[in-house]
Amino acid sequence: SKPLRLGIAGLGTVGVGVLRILRQQAALLEARTGCAMTVSAVSARTRNKDRGLSLASYDWEDDPVKLATRDDVDVFVELMGGADGPAKAATEAALAAGKHVVTANKAMLAMHGQALAEQAEGAGVALRYEAAVAGGIPVIKTLMEGLAGNEITRIMGVMNGSCNYILTRMEDSGKTYQEIFAEADGLGYLEADPQLDVGGIDAAHKLAILSSIAFGTKIDFDGIQLEGIERVAIEDIRAAADMGYKIKLLGVTQKTGRGLEQRMMPCLVPQTSPLGQLDGGTNMVVIEGDAVGQIVLRGAGAGEGPTASAVMADVCDIARGLRGPVFGQPAETLEQTTPASSQRP
Ligand code: NAP
Ligand code: HSE
Repeated sequence: SKPLRLGIAGLGTVGVGVLRILRQQAALLEARTGCAMTVSAVSARTRNKDRGLSLASYDWEDDPVKLATRDDVDVFVELMGGADGPAKAATEAALAAGKHVVTANKAMLAMHGQALAEQAEGAGVALRYEAAVAGGIPVIKTLMEGLAGNEITRIMGVMNGSCNYILTRMEDSGKTYQEIFAEADGLGYLEADPQLDVGGIDAAHKLAILSSIAFGTKIDFDGIQLEGIERVAIEDIRAAADMGYKIKLLGVTQKTGRGLEQRMMPCLVPQTSPLGQLDGGTNMVVIEGDAVGQIVLRGAGAGEGPTASAVMADVCDIARGLRGPVFGQPAETLEQTTPASSQRP
């Protein structure tokens, strides 16, 4: 069969990881999908930057929109980040040009997922985003495929590794939030805008995406009750420990009689529970379905290898010919999260 030709925009942590897998696992990928994969062109902000691997065999495009619409690109892989700007412009251009899109960009999906899904479905192309939620954990596939026969009743979890790292280090060291924040920042664990992490916004982006898939609702980021970890004091951590609890930035989404309830906030969890034992930068997603009961997914929520692993899962699906509605059901049929009767005036 014809090779699948990729255009990759964004050559940071995730983009470089994807290039490494494409190089190191070319034979495995072809055997598994029946399709060779090639990279037609790449793009990033700065051309002459040492990225730890040679880009000599790829065409370079300064403009991600141009890259996304090239004739020799079948799949546009968006790994730049940012809800708007070049990521959104290039994704829209790719979909308009009939290209499949793979992205890790939870911020873009949380803000514009509905419109992008309608565009992709209208064009009959795939828009896939496994890496956008919980990094290397295949939570999107689990919901859409593995649990397709279930009515999902609740999802909860720890979806931001940086916050979990900070809270765990506060427990272990007895140091203050400010001290551990500075440590995490110094180690490069926080987003360029750390408020995305510690304000709970990044985790809330992920929760908004999961809610839509699980409950067939429109993405409603603004409907999330949101509180970050900035006000968690070391005294709170000690008091929780005295009672046998830990504090975690926990996301919960569930349907209630009053519509969808989505919360992302610091919560007490028993020390002995699976969530209580989740240390460092790890993520955990607990899914409850009417038939399956409860399942627990745990793993690396960030980093080069784990995130690139999720991106490649999407690329492989496209190579195998899988398309399907973006959020598991056609975007035009997704419900409002809150019934009209209970919306505030
Ligand atoms: P990153 O290391 O900051 O890399 C971003 C890349 O995008 C860089 O190569 C940068 O170019 C390029 N870029 C930024 N603005 C651009 C522009 N205006 N035009 C062209 N290129 C531009 O980011 P990352 O960690 O790889 O994350 C990429 C995406 O994956 C984001 O959506 C992020 O939220 C998501 N994600 C990341 C992780 C993770 O563990 N890192 C996990 C899950 C999801 P230069 O290199 O030249 O500056
Ligand atoms: N800042 C995010 C985290 C990166 O700490 O989980 C992965 O989405």
